[in-house]
Amino acid sequence: MTWGEKAQERLTRIAECSASGPGVTRFPFTPEHQDALEHIRAWMECAGLTARLDAAGTLVGRRDGKGRTVLLGSHQDSVRNAGRYDGIMGIALSCLALEKLRSENRSPRFPIEVLAFADEEGVRFPTALLGPRALAGTLDPGVLEMVDQDGCSVSDALDAFGGDKSSVMSLARDPQGVRAYLELHIEQGPVLERQDAPVGVVTGICGIERSTITFRGETGHAGTVPMAGRADALVAAAGFINIVHDEARRVPDLRATVGTCSVSPNVANGIPDTAQLTLEIRAPSDGARKEFSVRMTKAAKTLAVHRGGQVDIRRTYEQPAVPCASAIIDGLSASMAKLGHSPIKLSSGATHDASAMSGLCDVGMLFVRCRDGVSHRPDEFASSTDMGAAIDTLAEMLVSFGSS
Ligand code: HGY
Ligand code: MN
Ligand code: MN
Repeated sequence: MTWGEKAQERLTRIAECSASGPGVTRFPFTPEHQDALEHIRAWMECAGLTARLDAAGTLVGRRDGKGRTVLLGSHQDSVRNAGRYDGIMGIALSCLALEKLRSENRSPRFPIEVLAFADEEGVRFPTALLGPRALAGTLDPGVLEMVDQDGCSVSDALDAFGGDKSSVMSLARDPQGVRAYLELHIEQGPVLERQDAPVGVVTGICGIERSTITFRGETGHAGTVPMAGRADALVAAAGFINIVHDEARRVPDLRATVGTCSVSPNVANGIPDTAQLTLEIRAPSDGARKEFSVRMTKAAKTLAVHRGGQVDIRRTYEQPAVPCASAIIDGLSASMAKLGHSPIKLSSGATHDASAMSGLCDVGMLFVRCRDGVSHRPDEFASSTDMGAAIDTLAEMLVSFGSS
């Protein structure tokens, strides 16, 4: 069995650690997460690592050594009805690269850790990146009191899972002791497939911001209130959604999405007096993202007045763009070239644990080709051959780290 086939087999088996329904649904601090940890512990053991659960619910597999630690890993959680690769692939391939080096007696001498982070997607709780933010010392303690749709807080879920809410804030690592964080991840886009490349080096991770935008108007009877003079909140919102989409298409590499919309009173014979949206803006350049955000705020206000109502805009999330470290980009490119792969470079439109780990140390990412660029869907797929190429590339990179 090749290393890539081993990866495929492990990812197929851990995909069963899922809530019911199509694809994989594995939220943090759930029974599915607990089941997945048993698989990941076994992977870490095969890689010669000693596994322990840290206070933030991250499973940390470590092998001691001399010098600064190199961190690997990704997230174990998924969105709802996801595929088998997003996040968990990075954990599996990191363990297999170490297992490969161990089998060839080429294990690097520096300390190394594989980190299986609990929560990157931010689906169960209105927050994300708990684990990497704790290690980077950038965690806002307020997130521990955020609750899921059942009213369960992060801290209660964490304690019940085996974490320790009282010591999450003291998990911050000393940057002096960490050399880099390297994350392998399925590309979740079409670039590598279009260039017929199995793997690619990430140059940077997009910045992201999310806002809740509430258009307010005046409700009334749909049959008796004349059209003239209505203050229909949903009409204002609909105009805004179209402006966002059409204007975003004009800004290279920028993505803007209105992903949710709730209406009140939400009845067929009532004029909507409230339409609440979420607006998410992503771009490789923070400048372009902020300029677009200002323009959309102005557009929302103009539309609200034009439709006889008001608008409230509340920023709920922001994460700056993160450049990958040039030394890591060069190292991964050299490892790929050594293995006969053309060192394709690309930016990431998805955010990752590496986005938060950049608060602690240099970060780098290696993408694996993604069939049809499809992700966050049950039909997400990466081939055994491409995963094998990623395992070989990471192994070569770690050996080169050891000699520099
Ligand atoms: O939203 C993202 O880019 C990531 O999948 N959490
Ligand atoms: Mn994802
Ligand atoms: Mn991911």
